[in-house]
Amino acid sequence: MSDPIMVVENVTKVYERGGAKIEVLKSVDLEIYSNEAVCILGASGAGKSTLLHILGTLDRPTQGRVLHNGLDLSREGDEALALFRNREIGFVFQFHHLLSEFSAIENVMLPARIGGVSEKEARVRAHKLLTLLGLEARKDHYPTELSGGEHQRVAVARALVQEPKILLADEPTGNLDTENSRQIQELFFSLKTRLGLTLVVVTHDANFATRFPRRLMLKDGHWN
Ligand SMILES: Nc1ncnc2c1ncn2[C@@H]1O[C@H](COP(=O)(O)OP(=O)(O)OP(=O)(O)O)[C@@H](O)[C@H]1O
Ligand SMILES: [Mg+2]
Repeated sequence: MSDPIMVVENVTKVYERGGAKIEVLKSVDLEIYSNEAVCILGASGAGKSTLLHILGTLDRPTQGRVLHNGLDLSREGDEALALFRNREIGFVFQFHHLLSEFSAIENVMLPARIGGVSEKEARVRAHKLLTLLGLEARKDHYPTELSGGEHQRVAVARALVQEPKILLADEPTGNLDTENSRQIQELFFSLKTRLGLTLVVVTHDANFATRFPRRLMLKDGHWN
């Protein structure tokens, strides 16, 4: 077997609030292989989002390491990590985070523009993705003019505009009806096949979870 694309090694995360310490993750290990589809399950507050943020270098562990292709990301500075995220990781947040003052297509273009892609090329990429996701007619709409499912798909398009190898998604079907949820599920697995993506998805959705060959359950700060 090849080496893992991402490794979480002995990761502990402690939050401090008002003098109290909460140990959310306790010595968690995780190895993710290229083109794998992994699903992370667990009760509300179990630390799923925390782990996904650490995996995506949006947050740093209190202890332990995160490696990408053998490179220890915990030793990298914030600027290097921002570059790493922009190039290698697509992130779909639990609460979309679309920017309200930008249209759908502008939201999708943003990571590409930040990554130094020309306006023209970014627009071509964003247009292609929005079309692929059935949102061509919505491309000039602002977030307030989009439905929940459309929001979610724009967030997925934005996560893919830099052609990442790894897609991390936090409850991508949360708050969606059955039909929209099914569409997102189909989309993820077709993207995995077509783009060779590695998928790490946090979900409460039992139906979605059964589609993953590998399911992991977080409980009390470690794997159950
Ligand atoms: N910045 C923070 N400061 C203090 N505590 C935090 C912080 N972020 C998260 N927590 C706490 O850490 C725990 C895990 O939070 P996390 O968001 O990872 O849970 P989750 O498994 O994603 O839950 P959900 O399914 O509800 O999204 C929670 O108890 C939460 O209150
Ligand atoms: Mg969460």
